[in-house]
Order: sequence, then structure tokens, then C-alpha cells
Amino acid sequence: MSCPFGGGGNRVPKGGTGKDDDKKLTYGSYLQLDKLLSCVDLQSAAVSTPVHDEHLFIVTHQAYELWFKQILFEVNSIIDLLGQVPVDEKKQLVMMNRLERIVQILKLLVDQIYVLETMTPLSFSEFRDYLSPASGFQSFQFRLLENKLGLKPGMRVSYQRQNYASVYSEELQATLKKSEEDPTLLNVLERWLERCPGLEEDGFNFWEKYNYQVRAYLNDHLTRAEAAESEAQRDQILNDHKSVKETFDVILDTDKYKALLARGDVRISHKALQGALLISHYREEVRFHQPFQFMTRLMDIDSLLTKWRYNHVMMVQRMIGSKPGSGGSSGYHYLRSTVSDRYKVFLDLFNLSNYLLPRNYIPPLTPGMKRTLSIPNLNTSVDGSMFRRFQIGSPNRGGAGPLSSSPGSLGRGSLPGTPEDAIFEVLSSSDGDEEDDSDQSPPANGQIVFSA
Ligand code: HEM
Repeated sequence: MSCPFGGGGNRVPKGGTGKDDDKKLTYGSYLQLDKLLSCVDLQSAAVSTPVHDEHLFIVTHQAYELWFKQILFEVNSIIDLLGQVPVDEKKQLVMMNRLERIVQILKLLVDQIYVLETMTPLSFSEFRDYLSPASGFQSFQFRLLENKLGLKPGMRVSYQRQNYASVYSEELQATLKKSEEDPTLLNVLERWLERCPGLEEDGFNFWEKYNYQVRAYLNDHLTRAEAAESEAQRDQILNDHKSVKETFDVILDTDKYKALLARGDVRISHKALQGALLISHYREEVRFHQPFQFMTRLMDIDSLLTKWRYNHVMMVQRMIGSKPGSGGSSGYHYLRSTVSDRYKVFLDLFNLSNYLLPRNYIPPLTPGMKRTLSIPNLNTSVDGSMFRRFQIGSPNRGGAGPLSSSPGSLGRGSLPGTPEDAIFEVLSSSDGDEEDDSDQSPPANGQIVFSA
């Protein structure tokens, strides 16, 4: 594959590009490199003798800002797509792809710190004084990104007892305020999880089944304690039981959960938590693969931002020790306090692991729910193009019905679009095929093998 700029470049830019219409589009004019590359102005050169490493310092920060711009572009588009009700089935793969792109960019950004670390503290000290009072704390795009992901103002570590936005112009402050109020990635995720099929009380009713199984699991601890061979063994089982019970109590008692939500200790609604748990327990069902991957990518974003914060603060310590930052904070100590769960927007997804049931306690899927989450069939049409039929149900039940674009038809017939589309559409529909679920009362004991 050749470089798109290498093929003669006979396209002429159409108006509005700032270039003469009679000039051919070139690599440089398309990328506006004249502007982009003229932005490396060494402050050391303006004030005194140019310091070699300041060039790297500026280019590194500029590269960060360009990538922040790209990440924001992707995050905004995902918020728009995931915020639709129902989610546009044709856009599901696009969303996953963009989320994956963000993850890959963040990996670059974590590693980019190492390039800057080739600058020695002594070199940095040669131009550092010229930068004051400028600081990375004033990176507007970084703040915008935190807000768009869903970081709440109250979760921020206070900086000089000031609102984090006070370092910006009124116009930028207004934009930041709006980003705090507009739907965030966390908000749209929450709404989407709340609609997860299988939560309906008159359907699969996952939450009732889950509650039942948690109790069975806890009771079995007690039974094991009674049968313990020694007092020490019994005490250990009872201790385990106590701590496991306390963990589950947090989510089984909705009033307790609401109190945590009000305090900001948990960030998604109880219903959304139920949806996330449902997906996590049944992630092996084909149509939950992508939703599960989606949640995993969101955790990756939090992990990578935490890794960035950590790499950044390590570099800061190496460069300036515990001296105050050029923006006026305590520097290393302030930054170290930001490497914490307070800044993890998708913390609830990490904490799902606290509430996962052992495999043999997972409530079995009912036939209706099983069909709702079943495997799509792929057929190839006569002209060779992929014609994907979304067949549900066993042949003898006549599960493969006519093509239908209605989200409500999921689980009863076939859907147009790719299987990947349909996987996400499951989450947009609360109307799974539940006709067989009514006869599935919770099982009589906890020892259930996960196979329906
Ligand atoms: C020699 C390299 C660097 C040093 C010594 C340094 C130092 C600092 C310090 C001391 C702070 C705390 C605020 C203050 O009082 O100034 C800070 C914040 C920050 N810096 Fe850097 N920094 C460096 C490189 C970078 C790079 C390459 C970026 C990339 C964008 C960056 C982005 C930020 C951001 C976003 C904050 C705000 C963090 C927060 O409040 O959570 N810094 N930096």
C-alpha cells in the first residue's frame, strides 16, 4: 500500500483551507505543518541561552495535547452513540473500535513519559524557572477528558483550596462547567446497563435469582462451619463467612447501597450494578461477549490513566524532588494523592469482582434467556456477500423467524445487521424472550452446575 500523498497529489483543496486554490494538495499543506511545526518556541532562548532539552520538553507536551484531542474526539462520539435509546445497532462495532483506539493511545501516553525522562534533572533545572507560573495543571484538555469520562468535581483532590477550574478564562470555565453537567461516558454506560435484558422482574429476574443464590452460598459456609473438624477450622470458616457476608450486604441491602451512592463511594445506580453483574456472570454467552469487552475496555482506560498519573509523579519526583510545582501546588505530594481510587471513574466495574458468585452458584439460564443470548448464524448469499441471519432458538421450536428490525423482536426471530450489532442491541432491549421463565423458581439448594 502506498502513501496517500505519494500518488501525484493532483487534488486541489476546495476553499476554506487557507491555501491558494491553484496550489496542489501536498503532505505539508494537508497537515498544515507550517503552522504545526512552527510552534516550538524555547522560552530559554527568549530569555537567555537556549537549553537543548527544552525542545524535547515542548514537543512532548504538544504531542500529549494532540493525543488528548484525539481521545476527546473519540470519547464524545462514544457518548453520543451509547447515549441513544435504543443504541443504534449498526454502530456497536464502531463504539468498541473507538474505545479500543482510546486504550491504545493511552498506552502510548503512559510510555511517552519515558522519553521525557531521558532529560536529566540538571537540564530541566536550566530552564524550569523560565516556565513559572505555567503548569500541566492548566491542561484544559486533560480536565475536559476527566469530566467527559465522568469524574465528579467532589472526587478531585483539592488544589490550593481552589476550584480546579479557577486557573482558566471565563470562557473555558463555562465549557468545563458544561462538561460536568452534560451526559458523561459514565452516565450513558449507567443508563445502558440499567436496560440490560434479564433484569425484568416479570422475566428472567436476575436480581431475585442472584439474591437467592448469595444466601445459599452464605448458608453453605455455615453448614461447612458446623461440620468443621476442629474449632480452629470452624473459626476460620466463620471469619470468612462474616467478611463475605459484609461484602454482599453492601449490594443486597438497597438502602445501604443508596447511602454509598449519596456519599460517592459507589458511582452507578443499583439497577446498573445489577446489569453489570448480569453481564459479568454470563459473559460466556455469545451475545454478552462484546458488552463484557466494552466494560473491560472502560476499566483499561481507568487503569491506564492511573498508570499515567503514577509515571508522571515518579518523573516529577525525579526532576524536582519534593519542591513545589510551577503551578504552585506541593508538587510531588499533591500528585501522589491523585494516584488513587478517587480518580477511577469506572471503579464500580473493578469492584464487581467482590460480588461474583462461584461458578456452581450462578443461577442457571432459563430456556428463554438462553435463547435471548444465543449464537447468531452466519449465511452467505448467492452473490457472495455476507447475509447474516440472526437465528434464535432450536430448529424444532421454529426459533428462526422472519427478518425484523424491531429491537423488541430479539429472541423471537432474526435481526438484520451483523452479529456484533445484535450483541449490543440485546442491551438496548428490555424485551427478551421470556415466555419460559415463569416456571423457573429459584432452585432449592445452592449446588447448581452452570449449564442450562
Ligand atoms: C519534567 C517534566 C514534568 C514535571 C516536572 C511536571 C511537574 C508537574 C507538577 C509539579 C504538577 C502539579 C501542579 C503544579 O503545581 O505545577 C504537574 C501537574 C500536571 N502535569 Fe506535569 N510535569 C511534567 C511533565 C508533564 C507532561 C509531559 C505532561 C503531559 C501532558 C504533564 C501534565 C500534567 C497534568 C495534566 C497535570 C495536572 C495533574 C492533576 O492535577 O491531576 N506534565 N506537573
